[in-house]
Amino acid sequence: MKRSAVFVPALAAVLTLFSSFSATAQKRKINVQQEFARAGEQLTQLLKTHPDRTKFPYSTRPDGALKDTKSEWWTSGFFGSTLWYMYEYTKQPQWQQAADQWTVAMQQEQHNTGTHDLGFMLYCPFGNGYRLTQNPAYKPVLLTGAQSLATRFNPQVGLIKSWNDFAGYKYPVIIDNMMNLELLTWAARTSGDSTLRRLSITHADNTLKNHFRPDGSTFHVVCYDDKGQVLARKTAQGAADNSAWARGQAWAIYGYTMLYRETKLDRYRQQARKTADFFLNHPNLPADKIPYWDFNAPGIPKEERDASAAAIVASALLELQQYSPAADAKRYRQAAEQMLVSLSSPAYHATLGDNQNFLIKHCVAHKPAKTEVDAPLVYADYYYLEALLRYDRLK
Ligand code: GLY
Repeated sequence: MKRSAVFVPALAAVLTLFSSFSATAQKRKINVQQEFARAGEQLTQLLKTHPDRTKFPYSTRPDGALKDTKSEWWTSGFFGSTLWYMYEYTKQPQWQQAADQWTVAMQQEQHNTGTHDLGFMLYCPFGNGYRLTQNPAYKPVLLTGAQSLATRFNPQVGLIKSWNDFAGYKYPVIIDNMMNLELLTWAARTSGDSTLRRLSITHADNTLKNHFRPDGSTFHVVCYDDKGQVLARKTAQGAADNSAWARGQAWAIYGYTMLYRETKLDRYRQQARKTADFFLNHPNLPADKIPYWDFNAPGIPKEERDASAAAIVASALLELQQYSPAADAKRYRQAAEQMLVSLSSPAYHATLGDNQNFLIKHCVAHKPAKTEVDAPLVYADYYYLEALLRYDRLK
Protein backbone atom coordinates (compact mmCIF):
# COMPACT_ATOMS: atom_id res chain seq x y z
CA MET A 1 0.00 0.00 0.00
CA LYS A 2 1.24 3.48 -0.80
CA ARG A 3 2.12 5.55 2.28
CA SER A 4 -0.34 8.29 1.27
CA ALA A 5 -3.21 5.74 1.31
CA VAL A 6 -2.67 5.36 5.05
CA PHE A 7 -1.54 8.90 5.74
CA VAL A 8 -4.51 10.77 4.21
CA PRO A 9 -7.29 8.98 6.18
CA ALA A 10 -5.17 9.15 9.35
CA LEU A 11 -4.66 12.90 8.88
CA ALA A 12 -8.39 13.36 8.24
CA ALA A 13 -9.20 11.46 11.45
CA VAL A 14 -6.78 13.59 13.46
CA LEU A 15 -8.24 16.79 11.97
CA THR A 16 -11.80 15.66 12.74
CA LEU A 17 -10.80 14.84 16.30
CA PHE A 18 -9.04 18.17 16.66
CA SER A 19 -11.94 20.18 15.25
CA SER A 20 -14.49 18.38 17.46
CA PHE A 21 -12.25 18.97 20.48
CA SER A 22 -11.85 22.67 19.71
CA ALA A 23 -15.60 22.98 19.04
CA THR A 24 -16.23 21.49 22.50
CA ALA A 25 -13.64 23.79 24.00
CA GLN A 26 -15.23 26.83 22.34
CA LYS A 27 -18.67 25.83 23.58
CA ARG A 28 -17.47 25.92 27.19
CA LYS A 29 -19.57 28.36 29.10
CA ILE A 30 -17.46 28.85 32.19
CA ASN A 31 -14.06 30.43 32.48
CA VAL A 32 -12.61 28.35 35.30
CA GLN A 33 -9.45 30.44 35.56
CA GLN A 34 -11.48 33.61 35.97
CA GLU A 35 -13.72 31.98 38.59
CA PHE A 36 -10.72 30.84 40.65
CA ALA A 37 -9.17 34.31 40.37
CA ARG A 38 -12.39 35.82 41.69
CA ALA A 39 -12.63 33.21 44.46
CA GLY A 40 -9.01 33.96 45.40
CA GLU A 41 -9.78 37.65 45.93
CA GLN A 42 -12.82 36.89 48.07
CA LEU A 43 -11.11 34.22 50.17
CA THR A 44 -8.09 36.48 50.67
CA GLN A 45 -10.44 39.05 52.21
CA LEU A 46 -12.16 36.41 54.33
CA LEU A 47 -8.79 35.23 55.63
CA LYS A 48 -7.82 38.83 56.47
CA THR A 49 -11.01 39.63 58.33
CA HIS A 50 -11.02 36.28 60.10
CA PRO A 51 -7.64 35.46 61.65
CA ASP A 52 -8.95 33.49 64.69
CA ARG A 53 -8.61 29.80 63.88
CA THR A 54 -10.85 28.67 66.72
CA LYS A 55 -13.86 30.23 64.97
CA PHE A 56 -14.67 28.68 61.62
CA PRO A 57 -16.42 30.78 58.94
CA TYR A 58 -19.86 29.30 58.32
CA SER A 59 -22.49 31.77 57.08
CA THR A 60 -24.03 35.15 57.85
CA ARG A 61 -26.48 36.29 60.50
CA PRO A 62 -29.80 37.96 59.62
CA ASP A 63 -28.12 41.36 60.14
CA GLY A 64 -25.45 40.40 57.60
CA ALA A 65 -22.63 39.84 60.14
CA LEU A 66 -20.36 36.84 59.77
CA LYS A 67 -21.47 33.71 61.57
CA ASP A 68 -18.77 31.30 62.66
CA THR A 69 -18.76 27.97 64.46
CA LYS A 70 -16.65 25.96 66.87
CA SER A 71 -14.65 23.04 65.54
CA GLU A 72 -17.22 20.48 66.70
CA TRP A 73 -19.91 21.78 64.31
CA TRP A 74 -20.31 19.64 61.19
CA THR A 75 -19.36 22.38 58.74
CA SER A 76 -16.14 23.53 60.38
CA GLY A 77 -13.79 21.56 58.14
CA PHE A 78 -15.09 23.13 54.95
CA PHE A 79 -13.16 26.39 55.18
CA GLY A 80 -9.77 24.68 55.19
CA SER A 81 -11.00 22.33 52.47
CA THR A 82 -12.02 25.25 50.28
CA LEU A 83 -8.52 26.66 50.69
CA TRP A 84 -7.10 23.28 49.58
CA TYR A 85 -9.06 23.60 46.33
CA MET A 86 -7.57 27.06 45.86
CA TYR A 87 -4.15 25.48 46.26
CA GLU A 88 -5.01 22.60 43.94
CA TYR A 89 -5.96 24.98 41.14
CA THR A 90 -3.37 27.71 41.60
CA LYS A 91 -0.45 25.75 43.13
CA GLN A 92 0.39 28.96 44.99
CA PRO A 93 2.14 28.31 48.33
CA GLN A 94 0.11 30.89 50.25
CA TRP A 95 -2.99 28.77 49.75
CA GLN A 96 -1.19 25.66 50.95
CA GLN A 97 -0.07 27.50 54.07
CA ALA A 98 -3.53 28.86 54.86
CA ALA A 99 -5.19 25.50 54.09
CA ASP A 100 -2.75 23.70 56.37
CA GLN A 101 -3.39 26.13 59.24
CA TRP A 102 -7.19 25.81 58.97
CA THR A 103 -6.89 22.03 58.58
CA VAL A 104 -4.71 21.54 61.63
CA ALA A 105 -7.20 23.69 63.58
CA MET A 106 -9.67 20.79 63.21
CA GLN A 107 -7.39 18.01 64.44
CA GLN A 108 -8.90 17.63 67.93
CA GLU A 109 -12.10 16.38 66.26
CA GLN A 110 -10.40 13.08 65.41
CA HIS A 111 -11.42 11.89 68.91
CA ASN A 112 -15.01 13.08 68.66
CA THR A 113 -17.33 10.06 68.91
CA GLY A 114 -20.41 12.21 69.52
CA THR A 115 -21.03 12.98 65.82
CA HIS A 116 -21.46 11.08 62.57
CA ASP A 117 -20.11 14.04 60.61
CA LEU A 118 -16.42 13.19 60.86
CA GLY A 119 -16.23 12.60 57.11
CA PHE A 120 -17.19 16.20 56.42
CA MET A 121 -15.14 17.51 59.33
CA LEU A 122 -11.95 15.54 58.75
CA TYR A 123 -11.90 13.90 55.34
CA CYS A 124 -12.62 17.14 53.48
CA PRO A 125 -9.70 19.09 55.02
CA PHE A 126 -7.19 16.37 55.97
CA GLY A 127 -8.12 14.04 53.08
CA ASN A 128 -7.66 16.77 50.47
CA GLY A 129 -4.52 17.96 52.23
CA TYR A 130 -3.07 14.45 52.25
CA ARG A 131 -4.01 13.84 48.62
CA LEU A 132 -2.33 17.06 47.54
CA THR A 133 0.76 17.11 49.76
CA GLN A 134 1.21 13.64 51.28
CA ASN A 135 1.97 15.44 54.55
CA PRO A 136 2.52 12.46 56.90
CA ALA A 137 1.05 14.38 59.86
CA TYR A 138 -2.43 14.27 58.27
CA LYS A 139 -2.65 10.49 57.94
CA PRO A 140 -2.96 9.47 61.63
CA VAL A 141 -5.64 12.13 62.16
CA LEU A 142 -7.71 10.54 59.39
CA LEU A 143 -7.13 7.00 60.66
CA THR A 144 -8.08 7.92 64.23
CA GLY A 145 -11.10 9.83 62.96
CA ALA A 146 -12.26 6.78 61.00
CA GLN A 147 -12.07 4.62 64.14
CA SER A 148 -14.02 7.27 66.07
CA LEU A 149 -16.72 7.29 63.39
CA ALA A 150 -16.87 3.48 63.38
CA THR A 151 -17.81 3.50 67.08
CA ARG A 152 -21.21 4.82 65.98
CA PHE A 153 -21.93 1.66 63.97
CA ASN A 154 -24.11 -0.84 65.79
CA PRO A 155 -23.89 -4.25 64.06
CA GLN A 156 -27.38 -5.20 65.32
CA VAL A 157 -28.81 -2.22 63.45
CA GLY A 158 -26.37 -2.33 60.53
CA LEU A 159 -26.03 1.44 60.28
CA ILE A 160 -23.99 4.32 61.65
CA LYS A 161 -26.12 6.32 64.04
CA SER A 162 -26.52 9.93 62.92
CA TRP A 163 -27.96 11.84 65.82
CA ASN A 164 -28.22 10.62 69.39
CA ASP A 165 -31.89 11.44 69.59
CA PHE A 166 -34.54 12.72 67.19
CA ALA A 167 -38.23 13.25 67.88
CA GLY A 168 -38.09 10.67 70.65
CA TYR A 169 -36.33 8.06 68.47
CA LYS A 170 -33.00 6.71 69.67
CA TYR A 171 -31.46 5.53 66.38
CA PRO A 172 -32.05 8.13 63.66
CA VAL A 173 -30.07 7.86 60.42
CA ILE A 174 -30.03 10.71 57.91
CA ILE A 175 -29.26 10.46 54.20
CA ASP A 176 -26.44 12.99 54.69
CA ASN A 177 -24.55 10.24 56.51
CA MET A 178 -23.67 8.62 53.17
CA MET A 179 -21.12 11.39 52.71
CA ASN A 180 -19.12 10.30 55.74
CA LEU A 181 -18.38 6.86 54.29
CA GLU A 182 -15.53 8.14 52.13
CA LEU A 183 -13.42 8.60 55.27
CA LEU A 184 -14.02 4.93 56.10
CA THR A 185 -13.27 3.50 52.64
CA TRP A 186 -10.11 5.62 52.46
CA ALA A 187 -9.04 4.40 55.92
CA ALA A 188 -9.77 0.77 54.98
CA ARG A 189 -7.62 1.09 51.87
CA THR A 190 -4.83 2.93 53.65
CA SER A 191 -4.63 0.87 56.84
CA GLY A 192 -5.78 -2.52 55.50
CA ASP A 193 -8.61 -2.62 58.08
CA SER A 194 -11.27 -4.23 55.90
CA THR A 195 -13.87 -3.96 58.70
CA LEU A 196 -14.24 -0.30 57.81
CA ARG A 197 -15.04 -1.15 54.20
CA ARG A 198 -17.58 -3.82 55.19
CA LEU A 199 -19.17 -1.40 57.61
CA SER A 200 -19.55 1.23 54.85
CA ILE A 201 -21.16 -1.27 52.51
CA THR A 202 -23.57 -2.48 55.20
CA HIS A 203 -24.57 1.11 56.00
CA ALA A 204 -25.02 1.96 52.32
CA ASP A 205 -27.04 -1.20 51.62
CA ASN A 206 -29.41 -0.61 54.52
CA THR A 207 -29.81 3.02 53.46
CA LEU A 208 -30.53 1.80 49.92
CA LYS A 209 -33.21 -0.53 51.28
CA ASN A 210 -34.93 1.88 53.66
CA HIS A 211 -34.35 5.49 52.65
CA PHE A 212 -35.58 5.60 49.06
CA ARG A 213 -39.01 5.94 47.50
CA PRO A 214 -39.98 4.22 44.24
CA ASP A 215 -39.52 7.50 42.30
CA GLY A 216 -35.83 7.65 43.33
CA SER A 217 -36.20 10.43 45.89
CA THR A 218 -34.98 9.99 49.45
CA PHE A 219 -36.48 10.56 52.86
CA HIS A 220 -34.33 12.68 55.13
CA VAL A 221 -34.40 10.71 58.41
CA VAL A 222 -35.14 7.02 58.99
CA CYS A 223 -35.57 6.03 62.64
CA TYR A 224 -34.66 2.47 63.67
CA ASP A 225 -35.10 0.30 66.72
CA ASP A 226 -32.10 -1.46 68.26
CA LYS A 227 -32.57 -4.49 65.96
CA GLY A 228 -32.57 -2.47 62.73
CA GLN A 229 -36.34 -2.39 62.18
CA VAL A 230 -37.67 0.84 60.68
CA LEU A 231 -39.90 2.69 63.14
CA ALA A 232 -40.53 5.91 61.21
CA ARG A 233 -39.54 7.90 58.14
CA LYS A 234 -39.36 11.59 58.85
CA THR A 235 -37.77 14.91 58.02
CA ALA A 236 -35.83 17.42 60.08
CA GLN A 237 -34.84 20.04 57.51
CA GLY A 238 -37.39 19.35 54.79
CA ALA A 239 -40.90 20.72 54.27
CA ALA A 240 -42.67 17.48 55.29
CA ASP A 241 -41.91 13.85 56.11
CA ASN A 242 -42.93 12.80 52.60
CA SER A 243 -41.30 15.71 50.76
CA ALA A 244 -38.04 15.77 48.81
CA TRP A 245 -35.66 18.07 50.69
CA ALA A 246 -33.29 19.35 48.00
CA ARG A 247 -29.99 18.95 49.85
CA GLY A 248 -30.97 15.46 50.97
CA GLN A 249 -31.34 14.48 47.30
CA ALA A 250 -27.95 16.08 46.67
CA TRP A 251 -26.27 14.05 49.43
CA ALA A 252 -27.81 10.88 48.02
CA ILE A 253 -26.61 11.56 44.46
CA TYR A 254 -23.12 12.50 45.62
CA GLY A 255 -22.89 9.79 48.29
CA TYR A 256 -23.85 6.87 46.04
CA THR A 257 -21.69 8.15 43.16
CA MET A 258 -18.73 8.34 45.54
CA LEU A 259 -19.41 4.89 46.97
CA TYR A 260 -19.69 3.42 43.48
CA ARG A 261 -16.21 4.82 42.79
CA GLU A 262 -14.95 3.31 46.02
CA THR A 263 -16.55 -0.15 45.67
CA LYS A 264 -17.59 -0.56 42.01
CA LEU A 265 -20.86 -2.10 43.24
CA ASP A 266 -23.32 -1.35 40.46
CA ARG A 267 -26.35 -0.97 42.74
CA TYR A 268 -24.80 2.27 44.05
CA ARG A 269 -24.32 3.69 40.57
CA GLN A 270 -27.93 2.78 39.73
CA GLN A 271 -29.25 4.56 42.81
CA ALA A 272 -27.15 7.66 42.11
CA ARG A 273 -28.57 7.75 38.57
CA LYS A 274 -32.14 7.22 39.73
CA THR A 275 -31.96 10.04 42.27
CA ALA A 276 -30.14 12.28 39.77
CA ASP A 277 -32.92 11.69 37.26
CA PHE A 278 -35.56 12.43 39.90
CA PHE A 279 -33.76 15.72 40.63
CA LEU A 280 -33.15 16.76 37.02
CA ASN A 281 -36.58 15.77 35.66
CA HIS A 282 -38.59 17.23 38.51
CA PRO A 283 -41.21 19.73 37.25
CA ASN A 284 -40.33 22.05 40.15
CA LEU A 285 -36.65 22.32 39.16
CA PRO A 286 -36.31 25.87 37.74
CA ALA A 287 -34.72 26.46 34.33
CA ASP A 288 -31.51 27.76 35.94
CA LYS A 289 -31.26 24.37 37.70
CA ILE A 290 -30.90 25.83 41.19
CA PRO A 291 -33.56 23.97 43.19
CA TYR A 292 -35.96 25.35 45.71
CA TRP A 293 -34.88 24.28 49.20
CA ASP A 294 -37.47 21.48 49.00
CA PHE A 295 -39.00 20.14 45.79
CA ASN A 296 -42.36 20.11 47.58
CA ALA A 297 -42.04 23.40 49.46
CA PRO A 298 -45.62 24.63 49.83
CA GLY A 299 -45.17 28.16 48.45
CA ILE A 300 -43.29 27.39 45.20
CA PRO A 301 -42.49 29.59 43.24
CA LYS A 302 -42.26 31.98 46.20
CA GLU A 303 -39.80 29.86 48.13
CA GLU A 304 -36.06 30.26 48.66
CA ARG A 305 -33.59 28.46 46.44
CA ASP A 306 -30.83 26.35 47.91
CA ALA A 307 -27.69 27.06 45.89
CA SER A 308 -25.73 24.67 48.13
CA ALA A 309 -27.77 21.74 46.82
CA ALA A 310 -26.97 22.79 43.24
CA ALA A 311 -23.24 23.02 44.00
CA ILE A 312 -23.21 19.52 45.51
CA VAL A 313 -25.22 18.07 42.62
CA ALA A 314 -23.08 19.80 39.98
CA SER A 315 -19.98 18.23 41.45
CA ALA A 316 -21.65 14.82 41.78
CA LEU A 317 -22.94 14.85 38.19
CA LEU A 318 -19.49 15.64 36.85
CA GLU A 319 -18.31 12.42 38.44
CA LEU A 320 -21.44 10.37 37.69
CA GLN A 321 -21.19 11.22 33.98
CA GLN A 322 -17.98 9.18 33.87
CA TYR A 323 -19.93 6.09 34.95
CA SER A 324 -22.91 6.60 32.62
CA PRO A 325 -23.76 5.65 29.03
CA ALA A 326 -22.94 8.36 26.48
CA ALA A 327 -26.38 9.97 26.14
CA ASP A 328 -26.88 10.19 29.90
CA ALA A 329 -23.31 11.32 30.43
CA LYS A 330 -23.95 14.22 28.08
CA ARG A 331 -27.21 15.07 29.86
CA TYR A 332 -25.43 15.07 33.25
CA ARG A 333 -22.58 17.21 31.94
CA GLN A 334 -25.00 19.73 30.45
CA ALA A 335 -27.04 19.92 33.66
CA ALA A 336 -23.89 20.40 35.75
CA GLU A 337 -22.68 23.07 33.35
CA GLN A 338 -26.00 24.92 33.62
CA MET A 339 -25.75 24.77 37.42
CA LEU A 340 -22.22 26.18 37.28
CA VAL A 341 -23.27 28.91 34.86
CA SER A 342 -26.03 29.91 37.28
CA LEU A 343 -23.79 29.71 40.33
CA SER A 344 -21.15 31.84 38.59
CA SER A 345 -23.69 34.48 37.54
CA PRO A 346 -24.52 37.65 39.53
CA ALA A 347 -27.79 35.99 40.58
CA TYR A 348 -25.93 33.54 42.85
CA HIS A 349 -22.29 34.64 42.97
CA ALA A 350 -21.39 37.44 45.35
CA THR A 351 -19.22 40.36 44.32
CA LEU A 352 -16.01 41.16 46.17
CA GLY A 353 -16.73 42.59 49.63
CA ASP A 354 -20.35 41.44 49.61
CA ASN A 355 -21.79 38.33 51.36
CA GLN A 356 -19.02 38.48 54.02
CA ASN A 357 -16.75 37.31 51.17
CA PHE A 358 -18.37 33.91 50.87
CA LEU A 359 -18.62 33.07 47.18
CA ILE A 360 -22.16 31.78 46.80
CA LYS A 361 -25.40 33.45 47.87
CA HIS A 362 -28.94 32.14 48.36
CA CYS A 363 -28.60 28.90 50.29
CA VAL A 364 -30.86 27.41 52.94
CA ALA A 365 -29.51 25.47 55.91
CA HIS A 366 -32.66 24.75 57.90
CA LYS A 367 -35.90 26.43 56.88
CA PRO A 368 -38.19 24.82 59.48
CA ALA A 369 -35.82 26.08 62.23
CA LYS A 370 -35.47 29.42 60.38
CA THR A 371 -31.66 29.25 60.49
CA GLU A 372 -29.50 30.38 57.57
CA VAL A 373 -32.37 30.90 55.18
CA ASP A 374 -31.32 32.68 51.97
CA ALA A 375 -27.75 32.97 53.25
CA PRO A 376 -24.26 31.88 52.21
CA LEU A 377 -23.04 28.50 53.48
CA VAL A 378 -19.37 27.56 53.58
CA TYR A 379 -20.05 24.15 52.05
CA ALA A 380 -21.74 25.69 49.01
CA ASP A 381 -18.40 27.40 48.28
CA TYR A 382 -16.50 24.14 48.81
CA TYR A 383 -18.62 22.05 46.43
CA TYR A 384 -18.74 24.91 43.91
CA LEU A 385 -14.94 25.00 43.68
CA GLU A 386 -14.83 21.19 43.58
CA ALA A 387 -17.30 21.21 40.69
CA LEU A 388 -15.21 23.84 38.86
CA LEU A 389 -12.11 21.65 39.27
CA ARG A 390 -14.00 18.65 37.90
CA TYR A 391 -15.38 20.74 35.04
CA ASP A 392 -11.88 21.94 34.24
CA ARG A 393 -10.67 18.33 34.06
CA LEU A 394 -13.31 17.47 31.43
CA LYS A 395 -11.11 18.96 28.75
N1 GLY B 1 -25.78 17.59 57.00
C1 GLY B 1 -26.68 18.63 57.33
C2 GLY B 1 -27.16 19.45 56.20
O1 GLY B 1 -27.03 19.12 55.05
O2 GLY B 1 -27.70 20.48 56.49
